[in-house]
Amino acid sequence: MSQLFARKPIAELLVQGESPYALKRALGAGDLIMLGIGAVIGAGIFGAIGTAAAGQYDAAGHLVRSGAGPALVLSFLLLGVCCALAGLCYAELAAMIPQAGSAYAYSYATLGELVAWVIGWDLILEYAVGNVAVAISWADYFTSLLRSFDVHLPVWLTTGYRTALLAPDPAVHGLLQTAPHVAGIPILVNVPAFLIVVVITWLLLLGVRESATANNIMVTIKLLVLGLFIIAGLTHLSRANYHPFAPNGFRGIHQGAAIVFFAYIGFDAISTAAEETQNPQRNLPIGILGGLAICTVIYMIVGAVLTGMVPYSELGVADPLAKALNSAGFTTVGWIVALGAIVSMSAVLLVFQYGQPRIFFAMGRDGLLPPWAAKVHARTRVPHVTTLITGVFVGLWSLIGDAGETYNLTNIGTLFAFVLVCVGVLVLRHTDRERARPFRVPFVWVVSLTGAALCLFVMVGLPLETWVRFAVWLAIGLILYAWYGYRHSRLHPTARQVP
Ligand code: ALA
Repeated sequence: MSQLFARKPIAELLVQGESPYALKRALGAGDLIMLGIGAVIGAGIFGAIGTAAAGQYDAAGHLVRSGAGPALVLSFLLLGVCCALAGLCYAELAAMIPQAGSAYAYSYATLGELVAWVIGWDLILEYAVGNVAVAISWADYFTSLLRSFDVHLPVWLTTGYRTALLAPDPAVHGLLQTAPHVAGIPILVNVPAFLIVVVITWLLLLGVRESATANNIMVTIKLLVLGLFIIAGLTHLSRANYHPFAPNGFRGIHQGAAIVFFAYIGFDAISTAAEETQNPQRNLPIGILGGLAICTVIYMIVGAVLTGMVPYSELGVADPLAKALNSAGFTTVGWIVALGAIVSMSAVLLVFQYGQPRIFFAMGRDGLLPPWAAKVHARTRVPHVTTLITGVFVGLWSLIGDAGETYNLTNIGTLFAFVLVCVGVLVLRHTDRERARPFRVPFVWVVSLTGAALCLFVMVGLPLETWVRFAVWLAIGLILYAWYGYRHSRLHPTARQVP
């Protein structure tokens, strides 16, 4: 029983990062900031932002969740504060325990093995399931861009089975009948979503330096494209669009924030690069907080410009930025921004697809997953087995999955991880006072408790069904832990101690 609460010694975590089986240290502070922006700016700002402003309606036209309206900038501000507090806690732990497992490793050192397992399992929602949502959004933008060039792919090759099953739109739902059938099963597969995951996985298998270079190019493009949107949009603002400023009051700002939280996910992903970072004690805090600050400013400006260009109630579409530009007459810019969205989401896919295998890798090294999870390729020093497994998992789910279904699950899983990281900082300050902290959270009680409370507050804005799915996911994880992880853990009394 005591194993459930056994903490992994930090000294051991640090030694692991330096062993001959270690990953390759190739990343500097600039790379980390770029990696953070690469992970953050994507499907959220190019897609979910519209629903957050306009609100979400069901098939019968009933309001499901209120929109923030032009007060969307306040939703972004609320999330910026929430993520900055969590980000400060991430920075302290990441600098102190620069280990690939991120929140999983920090929990192992602070809250014990059971919580660590729960977080490791929970992070699959953030990284792998989050990437399913991004891959499907990527495919939506891609196919609509192809359509603008008059290239029309068969709809049954660009729509996942679950999207058709869950769609309130009768035209999409009807695909269950009209799609080709094999042995009575409708063939509804999102081939572009699957293929982009294959390409990203291949890129990651080439090695970390090559992946970071590709990421830097994509981030530069996404910043240029959002800059273009802002400049074009500023010439078409209308005061009338800002009235009423907060049509649904604080409720709209809160529920809008819960929807658009997805746009912020990812700044924490760079903590998974800890073992591939030079001087992680200095560079990790710079990377996490720098990337977050840049993204928050960009989001607030984009939110203010977008809601000034078009009445907020018209923004509930899949591609709100392109729509706003098209209605202002900037069709060429709209086309360029759509292309930028595709590039941006590719960068998100790259960083998340990079993060997930490293968490599996850390769990495998601790014995909570089978030993093959901790294998590193002899030449590229990439955790190739877990990279491949992640690729297969995300690719297959993207082939048949639905974006909306996976967005909220990702949000709740990530917020839960943030809560535990905030709590973990406080616990470690108490249980390991003497350890050197290259970065210290200022006013730690205020920052960590407010951070945890704000994350919980945003979680409350998510629908009940998301909470139920989350509970089921955690229950499955606990069963797996009891069946495998508990007995094979390196902290188990009978475990063989490997170097
Ligand atoms: N923040 C990332 C995105 O918006 C997950 O795509």
